[in-house]
Amino acid sequence: MIFVFLGPPGAGKGTQAKILEHDLGAKQLSTGDILRENVKNDTSLGREAKPHMTSGGLVPDNLIIRMMGEYLATVETPILDGFPRTVPQAQALDDFLHENRLDATAVLFDVDMDVLTERLTGRWTNPRSGRVYHEKFNPPKIAGIDDEDGGELVQRDDDRSETVKKRLATYEKETAPLVHYYENDSPTVRFVRVNGLAPIDEVTEQLRALLHGEHA
Ligand code: AP5
Repeated sequence: MIFVFLGPPGAGKGTQAKILEHDLGAKQLSTGDILRENVKNDTSLGREAKPHMTSGGLVPDNLIIRMMGEYLATVETPILDGFPRTVPQAQALDDFLHENRLDATAVLFDVDMDVLTERLTGRWTNPRSGRVYHEKFNPPKIAGIDDEDGGELVQRDDDRSETVKKRLATYEKETAPLVHYYENDSPTVRFVRVNGLAPIDEVTEQLRALLHGEHA
């Protein structure tokens, strides 16, 4: 079984993937986290990806499809957070599901675009665990420190407001068409929606109700 979390930057995909890993017996596979780790370690993938990420655009499909082919082969029940993000990526995922006789559910986090800038510019992340906080909507007990492991929280470079604007425009152009793809064209993937505007714990409850019993 594969879970696909779809939605614009700041919709809550990473937050919910981390919360639900245990419940679903699944593992979050965040393309953004994998790419940031490659940039940090200055790998050849990281060097190719960095200018696209810094500008708020997408990393080319061929790089992402190759990278995810390797990760998908190693994780039994992934929660895909940030993949697919274009129709060619979705078609590559359909091929993988078909070849491996796997089922998938894609969840769209429905949100209004105007809440996203505030969510992203107030986000604080633990880069080691991927756990996500927000200074207003989900603050840690001590500012700048992860409640769970005491690690330092940082703000992402691409959460500056000028880059956020570009990321949201990229979403509308490149990723929003996936909604039509999953509603109409995908041969294999079940498509559902959650109200991503609800408070974090209510979104978790919606997801539990929709996805309960679907893990392998
Ligand atoms: P990536 O890291 O995937 O960023 P993203 O999709 O832009 O998603 P975010 O992590 O910003 O948002 P999220 O939905 O996870 O929100 P979160 O839960 O943190 O990608 C980064 C870059 O890598 C891309 O721009 C691209 O260049 C490249 N890339 C990645 N994948 C690629 C691909 N497949 N193809 C090509 N390029 C790719 O929540 C945000 C904030 O809101 C947090 O502070 C949180 O506490 C708060 N929050 C969450 N839910 C709620 C709620 N319900 N109410 C109030 N606050 C909330």
